[in-house]
Amino acid sequence: MEALECIKTRRSIRQFTDEKIPHAVMEEIVSAAAYAPSWKNTQISRYIVVEDVDKKSELARNCVMGFEKNTETIEGAAALVVVTMVKNRSGFERDGSYSTSKEDRWEMFDAGIATQTFCLAAHTQGIGSVILGIFDEKKIAETIEIPEGQQVAALIAIGYPAQSPEAPKRKETEVLLSYI
Ligand SMILES: Cc1cc2nc3c(=O)[nH]c(=O)nc-3n(C[C@H](O)[C@H](O)[C@H](O)COP(=O)(O)O)c2cc1C
Repeated sequence: MEALECIKTRRSIRQFTDEKIPHAVMEEIVSAAAYAPSWKNTQISRYIVVEDVDKKSELARNCVMGFEKNTETIEGAAALVVVTMVKNRSGFERDGSYSTSKEDRWEMFDAGIATQTFCLAAHTQGIGSVILGIFDEKKIAETIEIPEGQQVAALIAIGYPAQSPEAPKRKETEVLLSYI
């Protein structure tokens, strides 16, 4: 799939078939996501794939701040990917001080790029995904083990698509772009 086609045809998918994602396919997606750029190539993003139906259901029911749409999406997904970030590297100097006035916010920036790269790579494999931002990270950390020194950045519900939604309207280029 061409890059531009991939970018433009990826949609947030919230309904999935029952088909599981083979581990070899998941590994290909993650190995592509590894090529996302990151602060000084720190590569802080990690992917915890929750396939266990009971665990996934627990996350769906208890960890999305009561936002039922996300509960339904996660329940119906083949897997829930918990994207985590290794803390205190991206945006930091070697002595532990912040490099810029954005302080540690480069961590979320890196995780965001990695998450989108993951979703685009999944799309090339015919796999649908949706990034979920409405979740309670403390409850997630109580439900599954997040490795020491890492923090949850985002969730991705993933599976083979059972819908093909239209693209939500995009802003015109002239609104987005300016020159000086
Ligand atoms: C940071 C972020 C958080 C999001 N959180 C949610 C969410 O909690 N639930 C949901 O259904 N979609 C969520 N979305 C998906 C957006 O609603 C979706 O990307 C947007 O409507 C554009 O649609 P498209 O992805 O099909 O182009 C999120 C997307 C991003 C980037």
